[in-house]
Amino acid sequence: MKGVNSQVISDVRSRANIVEVIAQTVVLKRAGNTYKGLCPFHSEKTPSFHVNPDKGIYKCFGCGEGGDVFAFVQKVKGMDFLDTVRDLAYSLGVPLIETTEDRKEYDRRSLILMLYQQASEFYTRLLKDGSEGAAGREYLKKRGISEEIIEKFKLGIAPHGWDALLRYLMDANKVSADTLVEAGLVRRKTDTNHYFDLFRNRLMIPILDEQGRVIAFGGRALGDDEVKYINSPENPVYTKGDHLFAFSSAKDAIKQADGVILVEGYFDAISLHQHGFANAVATLGTALTEKQAKLLVRYTDNKRVYLCFDSDLAGQKAADRGRQTITQIAEGIGIDLRVISIVGGKDPDEFLRDERVGMGAQGFSEAIANAAPFADYSLDKAVAGCNLSSHTGRIEASKLIVPILAEIKNAVARGEYIRQWAAKLLVREEELLSDVGQYRRHNFSQTGLNSSRLNANQEANLKTKKLNGSRNALKVGHIEAEQQLLSLYLTSLEDHQFIKERMAEDVFIESVHQRIKEAIEGIGKFNNIDDLSYRLMDRLGPDQDASSCLVDIILKVEEVSKQNLPREVILREARARIWQERLNQEKNKLRALLPKAQSEEQQIGLQSRIKLVMELEKNLLWSEIKTEDEFKDLKHKINALLLETVL
Ligand code: UTP
Ligand code: MN
Repeated sequence: MKGVNSQVISDVRSRANIVEVIAQTVVLKRAGNTYKGLCPFHSEKTPSFHVNPDKGIYKCFGCGEGGDVFAFVQKVKGMDFLDTVRDLAYSLGVPLIETTEDRKEYDRRSLILMLYQQASEFYTRLLKDGSEGAAGREYLKKRGISEEIIEKFKLGIAPHGWDALLRYLMDANKVSADTLVEAGLVRRKTDTNHYFDLFRNRLMIPILDEQGRVIAFGGRALGDDEVKYINSPENPVYTKGDHLFAFSSAKDAIKQADGVILVEGYFDAISLHQHGFANAVATLGTALTEKQAKLLVRYTDNKRVYLCFDSDLAGQKAADRGRQTITQIAEGIGIDLRVISIVGGKDPDEFLRDERVGMGAQGFSEAIANAAPFADYSLDKAVAGCNLSSHTGRIEASKLIVPILAEIKNAVARGEYIRQWAAKLLVREEELLSDVGQYRRHNFSQTGLNSSRLNANQEANLKTKKLNGSRNALKVGHIEAEQQLLSLYLTSLEDHQFIKERMAEDVFIESVHQRIKEAIEGIGKFNNIDDLSYRLMDRLGPDQDASSCLVDIILKVEEVSKQNLPREVILREARARIWQERLNQEKNKLRALLPKAQSEEQQIGLQSRIKLVMELEKNLLWSEIKTEDEFKDLKHKINALLLETVL
């Protein structure tokens, strides 16, 4: 575990005061046993961010973020779990137990970060230099980039020579040329011992990680003729697809605007910042990855992302190619995707610098206000080449929009779009509806686009919200049921023992719950219940979904204790709910198979099986299962049924 073992983790946890750590970022006020403040992860005006020092956890009831001291530092600083533990360990004086290998790798990364830092300083200094920097300053002036922005983005210049940076870094650090090659700052000519700088005579744009450390560069040619950009290769501190350009300087503005503008070019982002849109970031010349998408919305509440791509043809082609990926990723994370259309300028940078009416910063603000939901944009785009005033043109258009309509996940929205476009294209609504339906059946599996992509946590939150105020707190969905059972492991030693024995063979439906259950079972001996939940947090630390879910479960402990129900009742009721869900899923699966049956025989087979499932469902009503044996009996029946294959 790279210098970090469970001893280190628990030492750090016991020494770190979660309130003190969080108070470095959030202003906290005491409220009884807990502390409250404004959530650092989304924008809000009234505090819904709670820190509970006794339990060692925080939770925002506004956006759902929650975790322990490690999760907090991890999210705020954008570090991975192990680095977070190390970081806290260093600052608290907890010694790390490291193998030499681990130490080496860590040192390697620190060294490379330092080299990038020094390279960046070298380039920025040169830009200010009279002779070397002249061309760069001239270039930036021509593009209207202000001094302030040059500072903010730490722009620099790589000099003409072949090995200026190479010599500078080797002299300053006694590092070998090969180390500089590994860092990606220097290249070695194949088969010779000649080393030379990767960036020469280029305007240097540093790429920073979420903590604002330089990890790579983009280098722009000062003229038009050559390769426009050279980018740093991946290196021990930079992985393509993990970062966004300008993110660390956009963070605050993103929170404030509760939205983020995503552009394609370095200079588009830079220009946006200069014109007052400091919530702009750019992809780094590649298609958006899921990791980048998650980063994008990390500091927003409503998860709004404005895409603003180049308006020239090449730019649009690229946008279309990326369309599928972006929409899919966006749906998965629940991003509210909008498209800013700019006309008249080639890219956002040109648009902003254009002084004509309707353009410039003012025009851009208007374009943001008018940004269309992604579906509208895609539909308009798809039919752009069709002549909608002719019958054939409209028929053609109605074919082109089917795949886009089919992709719209929300059924109500989809229906609305279908109605709207049927009217627009003068085709019959039922026909368009049936084409879209057919497309969906052919292209998306039943569990595909129409199924909800919420994670277990979000779904549980949703369900809890819906059920608030309902009288019977036990009659809830399987997710809630699974969490209730998990919380029983954490209420008291007696409950723990009880539930552990009963649930030994059971598997939870939600994989995140199952992971937590397995982690609990893997803990072994523990001193008391608090000890158990701390050790669990340690164990699940690297698994972000599971740790965040664990927080909800820990918070549920109190709730469950307050209900004051015999644990047998909780177990029976929750377990019945879980098995009901299992049967329900089986029923849906069988029903979906019905239209695919090849023969009448198969169809009858399926139907009788559906009946069987429904019978078993009835047996699950809790009054029917009185003893553990009765339950086991039923469980075996269900399992046998689920294992049998159909068709
Ligand atoms: P653009 O050509 O639109 O770049 O490419 P730009 O930032 O608007 O540059 P200017 O305004 O012409 O100076 C968009 C992005 O694609 C990547 C870069 O990240 C660039 O910002 N790119 C482009 C490369 O990596 N290499 C290239 O040769 C070109
Ligand atoms: Mn440009």
